[in-house]
Amino acid sequence: MKTTLSVIKADIGSLAGHHVVHPDTIAAANKILAEAKRNNIIIDYYITYVGDDLQLIMTHNRGELDMKVHETAWNAFKEATRIAKELGLYAAGQDLLSDSFSGNLRGMGPGIAEIEFEERPSEPVVIFMADKTEPGAYNLPLYKIFADPFNTAGLIIDPMMHEGYKFEVLDVYEGESITLNTPEESYDLLALIGTPSRYIVRRVYRKHDNLQAAVVSVERLNLIAGKYVGKDDPVMIIRAQHGLPALGEILEAFTIPYLVPGWMRGSHYGPLMPVSQKDARATRFDGPPRLIGLGFNIKNGKLVGPTDLFDDPAFDEVRRTAQLITDYIRRHGPFMPHRLEPQEMEYTTLPLVIEKLKGRFKKESDVYKAKHSIYSHEGSQE
Ligand code: 13P
Ligand code: 13P
Ligand code: MG
Ligand code: MG
Ligand code: MG
Ligand code: MG
Repeated sequence: MKTTLSVIKADIGSLAGHHVVHPDTIAAANKILAEAKRNNIIIDYYITYVGDDLQLIMTHNRGELDMKVHETAWNAFKEATRIAKELGLYAAGQDLLSDSFSGNLRGMGPGIAEIEFEERPSEPVVIFMADKTEPGAYNLPLYKIFADPFNTAGLIIDPMMHEGYKFEVLDVYEGESITLNTPEESYDLLALIGTPSRYIVRRVYRKHDNLQAAVVSVERLNLIAGKYVGKDDPVMIIRAQHGLPALGEILEAFTIPYLVPGWMRGSHYGPLMPVSQKDARATRFDGPPRLIGLGFNIKNGKLVGPTDLFDDPAFDEVRRTAQLITDYIRRHGPFMPHRLEPQEMEYTTLPLVIEKLKGRFKKESDVYKAKHSIYSHEGSQE
Protein backbone atom coordinates (compact mmCIF):
# COMPACT_ATOMS: atom_id res chain seq x y z
CA MET A 1 0.00 0.00 0.00
CA LYS A 2 1.23 3.49 -0.80
CA THR A 3 1.98 6.03 1.90
CA THR A 4 1.14 9.71 1.57
CA LEU A 5 3.04 12.39 3.44
CA SER A 6 1.02 15.61 3.73
CA VAL A 7 2.53 18.80 5.10
CA ILE A 8 -0.17 21.43 5.44
CA LYS A 9 0.51 24.79 7.06
CA ALA A 10 -1.16 28.06 7.89
CA ASP A 11 -0.59 31.20 9.88
CA ILE A 12 -3.51 31.23 12.30
CA GLY A 13 -2.17 34.04 14.47
CA SER A 14 0.91 34.52 16.58
CA LEU A 15 2.41 35.98 19.70
CA ALA A 16 3.63 39.59 19.93
CA GLY A 17 3.35 40.26 16.17
CA HIS A 18 4.26 37.97 13.25
CA HIS A 19 6.78 36.34 15.53
CA VAL A 20 6.04 32.87 16.82
CA VAL A 21 3.19 30.36 17.13
CA HIS A 22 1.69 30.14 20.64
CA PRO A 23 1.89 26.69 22.33
CA ASP A 24 -1.83 26.73 23.18
CA THR A 25 -2.68 26.89 19.47
CA ILE A 26 -0.41 23.90 18.86
CA ALA A 27 -2.26 22.07 21.65
CA ALA A 28 -5.58 22.94 19.99
CA ALA A 29 -4.42 21.53 16.64
CA ASN A 30 -3.04 18.49 18.45
CA LYS A 31 -6.48 17.58 19.80
CA ILE A 32 -7.94 17.49 16.29
CA LEU A 33 -5.07 15.48 14.83
CA ALA A 34 -5.09 13.01 17.74
CA GLU A 35 -8.78 12.42 17.11
CA ALA A 36 -8.16 11.93 13.37
CA LYS A 37 -5.48 9.38 14.25
CA ARG A 38 -7.88 7.53 16.56
CA ASN A 39 -10.46 7.50 13.74
CA ASN A 40 -7.89 6.08 11.28
CA ILE A 41 -8.05 9.11 8.99
CA ILE A 42 -4.31 9.58 9.45
CA ILE A 43 -1.68 7.06 10.53
CA ASP A 44 0.68 9.41 12.32
CA TYR A 45 1.40 13.10 12.72
CA TYR A 46 3.84 15.67 14.08
CA ILE A 47 3.00 19.30 14.72
CA THR A 48 5.53 22.08 14.76
CA TYR A 49 6.04 25.70 13.73
CA VAL A 50 8.42 28.08 12.04
CA GLY A 51 7.88 31.68 13.12
CA ASP A 52 4.15 32.40 12.96
CA ASP A 53 3.34 29.38 10.77
CA LEU A 54 1.68 26.30 12.24
CA GLN A 55 2.84 23.11 10.52
CA LEU A 56 0.84 19.89 10.35
CA ILE A 57 2.92 16.92 9.21
CA MET A 58 0.65 13.93 8.59
CA THR A 59 0.94 10.43 7.13
CA HIS A 60 -1.91 8.34 5.72
CA ASN A 61 -2.92 5.98 2.91
CA ARG A 62 -5.45 8.24 1.24
CA GLY A 63 -3.42 9.90 -1.52
CA GLU A 64 -3.01 13.59 -2.33
CA LEU A 65 -5.85 16.13 -1.98
CA ASP A 66 -7.89 13.75 0.15
CA MET A 67 -11.07 15.32 1.46
CA LYS A 68 -10.87 13.78 4.94
CA VAL A 69 -7.21 14.66 5.47
CA HIS A 70 -7.71 18.22 4.25
CA GLU A 71 -10.82 18.59 6.37
CA THR A 72 -8.81 17.42 9.39
CA ALA A 73 -6.19 20.10 8.68
CA TRP A 74 -8.91 22.71 8.20
CA ASN A 75 -10.55 21.78 11.50
CA ALA A 76 -7.18 21.93 13.25
CA PHE A 77 -6.53 25.43 11.85
CA LYS A 78 -10.06 26.54 12.77
CA GLU A 79 -9.70 25.26 16.32
CA ALA A 80 -6.26 26.83 16.66
CA THR A 81 -7.69 30.11 15.33
CA ARG A 82 -10.44 29.98 17.95
CA ILE A 83 -7.78 29.76 20.67
CA ALA A 84 -5.70 32.48 18.96
CA LYS A 85 -8.73 34.77 19.09
CA GLU A 86 -9.35 33.94 22.74
CA LEU A 87 -5.75 34.84 23.56
CA GLY A 88 -5.88 37.96 21.41
CA LEU A 89 -2.94 36.73 19.33
CA TYR A 90 -1.92 38.88 16.40
CA ALA A 91 -3.60 38.31 13.01
CA ALA A 92 -5.71 35.39 14.27
CA GLY A 93 -6.87 33.29 11.32
CA GLN A 94 -4.56 35.23 8.97
CA ASP A 95 -4.15 32.58 6.26
CA LEU A 96 -7.70 31.18 6.31
CA LEU A 97 -9.14 33.04 3.35
CA SER A 98 -12.44 31.19 3.28
CA ASP A 99 -15.09 30.58 5.92
CA SER A 100 -16.18 27.09 5.01
CA PHE A 101 -14.44 23.96 3.81
CA SER A 102 -15.45 22.52 0.46
CA GLY A 103 -13.66 19.35 -0.65
CA ASN A 104 -9.98 20.30 -0.38
CA LEU A 105 -7.80 23.14 0.81
CA ARG A 106 -6.51 24.37 -2.54
CA GLY A 107 -7.05 28.08 -3.00
CA MET A 108 -8.26 28.49 0.59
CA GLY A 109 -5.05 29.95 2.04
CA PRO A 110 -3.13 27.11 3.72
CA GLY A 111 0.06 25.89 2.02
CA ILE A 112 0.05 22.26 0.90
CA ALA A 113 2.89 19.89 -0.01
CA GLU A 114 1.90 16.25 -0.48
CA ILE A 115 3.73 13.27 -1.88
CA GLU A 116 2.49 9.70 -2.33
CA PHE A 117 4.99 6.87 -2.64
CA GLU A 118 5.70 3.20 -2.25
CA GLU A 119 7.87 3.13 0.90
CA ARG A 120 11.43 1.93 0.31
CA PRO A 121 12.85 -0.43 2.99
CA SER A 122 14.30 2.73 4.53
CA GLU A 123 12.48 5.93 3.61
CA PRO A 124 14.37 9.03 4.81
CA VAL A 125 12.61 12.34 4.18
CA VAL A 126 13.49 15.93 4.95
CA ILE A 127 10.80 18.53 5.54
CA PHE A 128 11.80 22.14 5.07
CA MET A 129 9.63 24.91 6.45
CA ALA A 130 10.29 28.62 5.94
CA ASP A 131 8.87 31.82 7.40
CA LYS A 132 8.84 35.30 5.79
CA THR A 133 9.32 34.18 2.22
CA GLU A 134 7.66 32.71 -0.90
CA PRO A 135 7.50 29.28 -2.63
CA GLY A 136 10.03 30.29 -5.30
CA ALA A 137 12.58 30.47 -2.47
CA TYR A 138 13.15 26.74 -2.97
CA ASN A 139 14.07 27.08 -6.67
CA LEU A 140 17.75 27.72 -6.03
CA PRO A 141 18.39 24.86 -3.57
CA LEU A 142 16.29 22.43 -5.65
CA TYR A 143 18.47 23.17 -8.66
CA LYS A 144 21.61 22.66 -6.64
CA ILE A 145 20.36 19.44 -5.01
CA PHE A 146 19.05 17.74 -8.15
CA ALA A 147 21.04 19.29 -11.01
CA ASP A 148 24.36 20.70 -9.81
CA PRO A 149 27.20 18.18 -9.44
CA PHE A 150 29.27 20.77 -7.57
CA ASN A 151 26.64 20.43 -4.84
CA THR A 152 25.54 16.83 -5.27
CA ALA A 153 28.33 14.33 -5.82
CA GLY A 154 25.78 11.56 -6.43
CA LEU A 155 24.87 13.03 -9.82
CA ILE A 156 28.33 11.94 -10.97
CA ILE A 157 29.02 8.97 -8.71
CA ASP A 158 25.71 7.14 -8.23
CA PRO A 159 24.52 5.17 -11.31
CA MET A 160 20.89 5.51 -10.08
CA MET A 161 21.18 9.31 -10.23
CA HIS A 162 23.48 9.69 -13.20
CA GLU A 163 20.72 10.13 -15.81
CA GLY A 164 19.47 13.19 -13.97
CA TYR A 165 16.13 14.55 -12.81
CA LYS A 166 12.97 16.15 -14.22
CA PHE A 167 11.69 19.46 -12.86
CA GLU A 168 8.00 20.36 -13.03
CA VAL A 169 7.77 24.15 -13.08
CA LEU A 170 4.57 26.11 -12.47
CA ASP A 171 4.00 29.54 -14.03
CA VAL A 172 1.86 31.08 -11.28
CA TYR A 173 0.78 34.01 -13.43
CA GLU A 174 -0.51 31.93 -16.36
CA GLY A 175 -1.57 28.87 -14.33
CA GLU A 176 0.42 26.51 -16.62
CA SER A 177 3.20 24.04 -15.95
CA ILE A 178 6.13 22.66 -17.93
CA THR A 179 8.49 19.75 -17.27
CA LEU A 180 12.18 20.12 -18.10
CA ASN A 181 14.92 17.49 -18.02
CA THR A 182 18.33 17.95 -16.49
CA PRO A 183 21.16 17.96 -17.30
CA GLU A 184 20.23 18.44 -20.99
CA GLU A 185 17.74 21.30 -20.49
CA SER A 186 19.48 22.92 -17.51
CA TYR A 187 19.87 26.27 -19.20
CA ASP A 188 16.18 26.34 -20.22
CA LEU A 189 15.24 25.44 -16.67
CA LEU A 190 17.42 28.20 -15.23
CA ALA A 191 15.99 30.69 -17.74
CA LEU A 192 12.63 30.15 -16.07
CA ILE A 193 13.33 29.46 -12.41
CA GLY A 194 15.74 32.38 -12.09
CA THR A 195 12.45 34.37 -11.90
CA PRO A 196 11.20 32.68 -8.73
CA SER A 197 8.29 35.07 -8.18
CA ARG A 198 6.68 33.67 -11.33
CA TYR A 199 8.17 30.25 -12.13
CA ILE A 200 8.14 27.87 -9.18
CA VAL A 201 9.60 24.37 -9.08
CA ARG A 202 6.69 22.29 -7.82
CA ARG A 203 7.89 18.69 -8.18
CA VAL A 204 11.09 16.86 -9.00
CA TYR A 205 11.25 13.30 -10.40
CA ARG A 206 14.13 10.91 -10.99
CA LYS A 207 14.36 10.64 -14.75
CA HIS A 208 14.99 6.93 -15.31
CA ASP A 209 11.99 5.65 -13.35
CA ASN A 210 9.84 8.74 -12.64
CA LEU A 211 10.20 8.27 -8.88
CA GLN A 212 9.02 11.49 -7.25
CA ALA A 213 11.75 12.99 -5.10
CA ALA A 214 10.44 16.40 -4.03
CA VAL A 215 7.36 18.58 -3.75
CA VAL A 216 6.87 22.25 -2.80
CA SER A 217 3.79 24.13 -1.59
CA VAL A 218 3.20 26.58 -4.44
CA GLU A 219 0.15 28.53 -3.27
CA ARG A 220 0.76 32.27 -3.53
CA LEU A 221 -1.56 33.94 -1.04
CA ASN A 222 -1.48 37.37 -2.64
CA LEU A 223 -2.46 35.94 -6.03
CA ILE A 224 -5.37 34.08 -4.42
CA ALA A 225 -6.53 37.01 -2.28
CA GLY A 226 -5.62 39.74 -4.83
CA LYS A 227 -4.03 41.74 -2.02
CA TYR A 228 -1.35 41.44 0.64
CA VAL A 229 -2.37 38.98 3.35
CA GLY A 230 1.10 37.98 4.55
CA LYS A 231 3.67 35.86 2.79
CA ASP A 232 3.16 32.25 1.79
CA ASP A 233 5.97 30.87 3.96
CA PRO A 234 6.42 27.68 1.92
CA VAL A 235 7.15 24.08 2.84
CA MET A 236 9.03 21.44 0.88
CA ILE A 237 9.41 17.67 1.18
CA ILE A 238 12.50 15.91 -0.19
CA ARG A 239 13.10 12.15 -0.13
CA ALA A 240 16.73 11.20 0.51
CA GLN A 241 19.33 8.47 -0.02
CA HIS A 242 19.49 5.27 -2.07
CA GLY A 243 19.40 6.65 -5.60
CA LEU A 244 18.32 10.08 -4.39
CA PRO A 245 20.53 12.85 -3.00
CA ALA A 246 22.11 11.97 0.34
CA LEU A 247 20.91 13.88 3.39
CA GLY A 248 24.16 15.87 3.41
CA GLU A 249 23.80 16.73 -0.29
CA ILE A 250 20.34 18.09 0.40
CA LEU A 251 21.57 20.21 3.32
CA GLU A 252 24.63 21.39 1.39
CA ALA A 253 22.35 23.54 -0.80
CA PHE A 254 21.60 25.73 2.23
CA THR A 255 25.20 26.66 2.99
CA ILE A 256 24.72 30.03 1.30
CA PRO A 257 22.14 32.37 2.84
CA TYR A 258 20.83 33.39 -0.60
CA LEU A 259 18.46 36.33 -0.99
CA VAL A 260 14.73 35.70 -1.00
CA PRO A 261 11.70 38.02 -1.14
CA GLY A 262 9.58 38.40 1.99
CA TRP A 263 10.81 39.63 5.36
CA MET A 264 9.23 42.85 6.73
CA ARG A 265 5.68 43.31 5.37
CA GLY A 266 6.46 40.77 2.67
CA SER A 267 8.20 43.59 0.83
CA HIS A 268 11.95 43.11 1.17
CA TYR A 269 14.77 40.90 -0.01
CA GLY A 270 16.80 39.29 2.71
CA PRO A 271 19.03 36.28 3.36
CA LEU A 272 17.37 32.93 4.06
CA MET A 273 18.89 31.82 7.36
CA PRO A 274 18.81 28.10 8.27
CA VAL A 275 18.08 27.76 12.01
CA SER A 276 17.29 25.16 14.64
CA GLN A 277 13.73 24.67 15.84
CA LYS A 278 14.47 26.71 18.97
CA ASP A 279 15.52 29.70 16.82
CA ALA A 280 12.52 29.43 14.49
CA ARG A 281 11.14 32.83 15.54
CA ALA A 282 10.99 35.97 13.44
CA THR A 283 12.64 38.89 15.23
CA ARG A 284 14.92 41.39 13.47
CA PHE A 285 12.87 43.38 10.95
CA ASP A 286 10.41 40.45 11.27
CA GLY A 287 13.12 38.07 10.18
CA PRO A 288 15.54 37.56 8.70
CA PRO A 289 13.64 34.94 6.65
CA ARG A 290 14.15 31.63 8.43
CA LEU A 291 14.27 28.01 7.42
CA ILE A 292 14.07 24.89 9.53
CA GLY A 293 14.70 21.34 8.34
CA LEU A 294 13.40 18.25 10.10
CA GLY A 295 14.58 14.77 9.15
CA PHE A 296 12.33 11.70 9.54
CA ASN A 297 12.21 8.09 8.51
CA ILE A 298 8.82 6.79 7.47
CA LYS A 299 8.10 3.17 8.30
CA ASN A 300 4.67 1.66 7.55
CA GLY A 301 3.32 5.18 7.65
CA LYS A 302 4.85 5.93 11.06
CA LEU A 303 6.93 9.07 11.45
CA VAL A 304 10.22 8.09 13.07
CA GLY A 305 12.02 11.16 14.38
CA PRO A 306 12.41 14.07 13.92
CA THR A 307 16.00 15.23 13.99
CA ASP A 308 16.55 19.01 13.95
CA LEU A 309 18.94 19.30 11.02
CA PHE A 310 20.17 22.89 11.29
CA ASP A 311 20.78 22.59 15.05
CA ASP A 312 24.44 22.16 14.24
CA PRO A 313 27.63 24.24 14.47
CA ALA A 314 28.34 23.26 10.84
CA PHE A 315 25.76 25.93 9.95
CA ASP A 316 27.10 28.64 12.29
CA GLU A 317 29.12 30.31 9.55
CA VAL A 318 26.07 30.36 7.25
CA ARG A 319 24.13 32.11 9.99
CA ARG A 320 26.98 34.54 10.58
CA THR A 321 27.07 35.37 6.87
CA ALA A 322 23.31 35.90 7.05
CA GLN A 323 23.88 38.47 9.83
CA LEU A 324 26.44 40.32 7.72
CA ILE A 325 24.08 40.38 4.74
CA THR A 326 21.28 41.53 7.04
CA ASP A 327 23.36 44.48 8.30
CA TYR A 328 24.42 45.40 4.79
CA ILE A 329 21.11 45.16 3.00
CA ARG A 330 19.10 46.79 5.83
CA ARG A 331 21.09 49.98 5.37
CA HIS A 332 19.29 50.45 2.04
CA GLY A 333 16.15 51.24 4.05
CA PRO A 334 13.22 51.77 1.68
CA PHE A 335 15.37 51.60 -1.46
CA MET A 336 15.44 48.84 -4.03
CA PRO A 337 16.93 46.30 -4.34
CA HIS A 338 16.31 45.77 -0.60
CA ARG A 339 12.67 46.71 -1.15
CA LEU A 340 10.95 44.49 -3.74
CA GLU A 341 10.43 45.52 -7.37
CA PRO A 342 7.23 47.45 -8.25
CA GLN A 343 5.43 44.46 -9.76
CA GLU A 344 5.66 42.55 -6.48
CA MET A 345 4.81 45.68 -4.45
CA GLU A 346 1.47 45.83 -6.30
CA TYR A 347 0.19 43.21 -3.88
CA THR A 348 1.21 45.14 -0.77
CA THR A 349 -0.36 48.25 0.77
CA LEU A 350 2.08 50.57 -1.03
CA PRO A 351 -0.32 51.26 -3.97
CA LEU A 352 -2.76 52.87 -1.48
CA VAL A 353 -0.03 55.32 -0.47
CA ILE A 354 0.95 56.11 -4.05
CA GLU A 355 -2.72 56.52 -5.05
CA LYS A 356 -2.97 59.53 -2.70
CA LEU A 357 -0.24 61.28 -4.71
CA LYS A 358 -1.93 60.70 -8.09
CA GLY A 359 -3.55 64.16 -8.37
CA ARG A 360 -0.29 65.92 -7.52
CA PHE A 361 1.67 64.65 -10.51
CA LYS A 362 2.00 67.31 -13.24
CA LYS A 363 2.47 66.32 -16.88
CA GLU A 364 6.00 67.16 -18.02
CA SER A 365 4.59 68.76 -21.19
CA ASP A 366 2.35 71.06 -19.08
CA VAL A 367 5.31 72.06 -16.93
CA TYR A 368 7.24 72.91 -20.09
CA LYS A 369 4.33 74.90 -21.55
CA ALA A 370 3.92 76.87 -18.30
CA LYS A 371 7.63 77.67 -18.23
CA HIS A 372 7.57 78.65 -21.87
CA SER A 373 4.70 81.11 -21.34
CA ILE A 374 6.61 82.66 -18.40
CA TYR A 375 9.64 83.15 -20.63
CA SER A 376 7.63 84.66 -23.49
CA HIS A 377 5.85 86.93 -20.96
CA GLU A 378 9.24 88.05 -19.59
CA GLY A 379 10.39 88.62 -23.19
CA SER A 380 7.43 90.88 -23.96
CA GLN A 381 8.32 93.10 -21.00
CA GLU A 382 11.68 93.99 -22.48
P1 13P B 1 26.92 5.07 4.13
O1 13P B 1 28.00 4.19 3.62
O2 13P B 1 27.11 5.51 5.53
O3 13P B 1 25.57 4.50 3.91
O4 13P B 1 26.98 6.42 3.28
C1 13P B 1 26.45 6.51 2.00
C2 13P B 1 26.16 7.93 1.69
O5 13P B 1 25.11 8.22 1.17
C3 13P B 1 27.14 8.95 2.10
O6 13P B 1 26.84 10.20 1.58
P1 13P C 1 3.69 36.45 7.71
O1 13P C 1 3.27 36.00 6.33
O2 13P C 1 4.74 35.56 8.28
O3 13P C 1 2.50 36.61 8.59
O4 13P C 1 4.39 37.84 7.56
C1 13P C 1 3.64 38.98 7.59
C2 13P C 1 4.45 40.24 7.64
O5 13P C 1 4.05 41.20 7.03
C3 13P C 1 5.70 40.29 8.42
O6 13P C 1 6.25 41.57 8.48
MG1 MG D 1 1.66 36.37 10.36
MG1 MG E 1 4.69 33.51 8.48
MG1 MG F 1 2.60 34.09 5.94
MG1 MG G 1 26.02 4.93 6.90
